[in-house]
Formats: sequence, structure tokens, C-alpha cells
Amino acid sequence: ANLERAVAISDLRARMHRRLPNFVTEYIEGGAEEELTLRENREIFSRILFRPNTLINAAGVDASTKLFGRPLRLPVVIAPTGSNGLYWHEGDQCLARAAAAFGIPFTQSTVSNARLEDVAALPGVRHWMQLYVFRARAFMEELVARADAAGSEALVVTVDAAAFGNREWDRRNYGRDMDPTLANKLDVLRRPHWMANVLARGLPTFANVADKIPPAERTYKRTASWTREQMDLAFDWSDIALLRRIWPRRLIIKGLVTADDAARAADAGADGVVLSNHGGRQLDGMVSGVATLPEVRRRVGDDFTILVDGGFRRGTDIVKALALGADAVMVGRATLYGLAAAGEAGVMRALAILEQEVLRTMALLGRLTVADLGLDCLAARSDPLDGL
Ligand code: FNR
Repeated sequence: ANLERAVAISDLRARMHRRLPNFVTEYIEGGAEEELTLRENREIFSRILFRPNTLINAAGVDASTKLFGRPLRLPVVIAPTGSNGLYWHEGDQCLARAAAAFGIPFTQSTVSNARLEDVAALPGVRHWMQLYVFRARAFMEELVARADAAGSEALVVTVDAAAFGNREWDRRNYGRDMDPTLANKLDVLRRPHWMANVLARGLPTFANVADKIPPAERTYKRTASWTREQMDLAFDWSDIALLRRIWPRRLIIKGLVTADDAARAADAGADGVVLSNHGGRQLDGMVSGVATLPEVRRRVGDDFTILVDGGFRRGTDIVKALALGADAVMVGRATLYGLAAAGEAGVMRALAILEQEVLRTMALLGRLTVADLGLDCLAARSDPLDGL
């Protein structure tokens, strides 16, 4: 399939829907409960409009920036997502290689299907490691030490998943013991490419936790259920203090949205935050990070790094977030659609689409650099008769 014919992220998404079994697609696409937050993550962008300046020579438009003092080709970082190896063989490596070739960091999930050492060692990869705080705190410390030894640039601690979100798609698709229902197994037979690319090689395990399980029992199901049992409700700011003591490089807290929490993260010694609702997969009805971005920026000042994620599918979405005060955005599903459509080349295609869209948007907006993007190029959607 000719990837150039995918002109928008939605085209890659459509290819994913054709290629993956339903239960895998629904794991990626789904949100918690009523999916209010999942929808809000997209709808919020339609309430924010642009006020362009015209007749500005846009020949030199440039979307590159710096994050933590290092250059980024585009203000985008690939978000951590679990089970990438279920979407494409060696999915984590595909995402990491594409990010490296493109010139942005890749965040590897704790529950990824590759050992963090193997991904961090790929040539040119800027490796960020995402951390879930597990009941087994000693194991958590072990993971941090491994990320340190592997040279990860940043540790991204996810704080919105102490309780596992209520994802009803998954609960319906899987029977007991993480086993897909019969209907879902039959659906796999309609996906020959996925069977050859993923299933035929054996379902991948959660490689970073596999050591905790006896070798003979190291299956996808067993590593997945071990992880589920490790979710820890007893997790708070004291764990952040501990992580700050043991982690020497950039510490980023992902999964908060309020100005108070962002300020507290800064006080706790974090280098940055990701305003996030976990792609609508955790607390349903929670606001979008995009909505709280201006108040968070006002509170923490210009020097603290703010990333935001949730619902970014277009260059216009990215430009809006930068104008609202973000230093960069994380993308989850946008690059996963590319991965699930066509592996590493599909991820490259997704990033190229986003870059072309960001550059075009900035040119049309008359703002030629990322530093030129500010609240003054935005307007809230309004009715022309309001206030008359
Ligand atoms: C996620 N997300 C996530 N976050 C995290 O910290 N650790 C993880 O293992 C995962 N796993 C995961 C799997 C899948 C399939 C998705 C879609 C998401 C959340 C992710 O990092 C990010 O916050 C959202 O994906 C951002 O929203 P969009 O870009 O997907 O709309």
C-alpha cells in the first residue's frame, strides 16, 4: 500500500482498522466508561480558533524548537503506550527508530514489549522511560536504575493510573484470565497480515517485568496480569520525592492537569509535567490538559517545561497548544495509527504529515517561529451577535 496516499492521520487510522483484530483496535481507540473525556480531547480544539496575521513573508517558516536545552525538529514527543508489539512486530523499536530518524524523543512504556536496554541502545534514539509506580517498590527502583544505566534522557512518571481506568471495551473483549472471547478469536482469522506479522511470532510479553515471573510462565497473559496486580493505590508525593532522590536526569510528571498540582510538581523538583488525562482512558469526565494549559502556564512561569497530550491528530491542534503555552506536545494514537498501518514507515508518515501541517498552519497564521506563537493568535469560538 502506497503510504503517500495517506494524506491525513485519519487515513492511517482507517488502515489500522482494516489490519488489526477488533480487540486490539478497541484497546487502542477506547476510552473509559462514557468516553466523555475521549471525545472532549478532540472537541476542545473546535472551540479554539485562529486570528491570523496576513501579508507576512512566510518563506522561512520554522517549526523547530528546544526542549530541556536540546533541539527538536518539531515540538512533538512520542507518548508512552503499552503493548506496542501487539500492533506491529517489534513496535517499540519501530517507534523509537522513526523518532530518532525524525529528530524527536521516544517515550517507552513500563509495560512495553521490548526491554528498555534494547530500545535505549538503538542508534540515535533519544530515550525517555515511562514509569508506573508498582506495589513492588524495590522493583520500581530496579527499573529506575536500569533506565539510568541505559542512559535514558528522562524519566516520565505517570500519576493518573493508581487505579486502573474502567475500560469496558477490554472487559467485554477479554474473558477471564486475559483471554479474548471466541468472537474475537474468530475475528483474528479475518486479519491475515496481523496473523503473519504478530501472532505467528507468538504474542510478545511485557519484557520489562518478565524477570519477575518464572521463565516457563512468561507469557503475554501472565506478564499482563502480574502488571495489573501491581497497580498501587498507595502512591503519593512521597514517592515523587524518592524518585527525585534516585533519578539523576530529567524528571517529568505525567497525568496531572491543575495549576496546583503542576506547582507542587515543580516544588518537588520535577523538571517538567505532561498535562494529560491518559488519552481519556482513566478518569472519565476529566478535563483536557489543553483546557487548563493557560492557567498552569500562568502559575508556573515561563521557565518550567510544560507538555500536554490528548487528542492531537492535526498540525492545527499542535499549534493551538503551543500558542496556549505548551513547550511541546505528546502524541499517542496519531503515531500508533501509523505503526499499526505500516510499521516504522507508517510512523515516519504520521510524523511527516504532522510536520507538514504544523508548517502550513504557522505560515497561514503569519507566525514563522514557535517563539512567535502566543495567546494573541487565538480566539475562543464566539457568536457574532454575542454582546451586541
Ligand atoms: C496509553 N497511554 C499510556 N500512558 C502511560 O503513561 N503509560 C502507558 O503504558 C500507556 N499506555 C497507553 C496505551 C494506549 C494504547 C494508549 C492509546 C495510550 C496514554 C498515552 O501516553 C497518552 O497520554 C495518550 O495516548 C494521549 O492521547 P492521544 O494522543 O492518544 O489522544
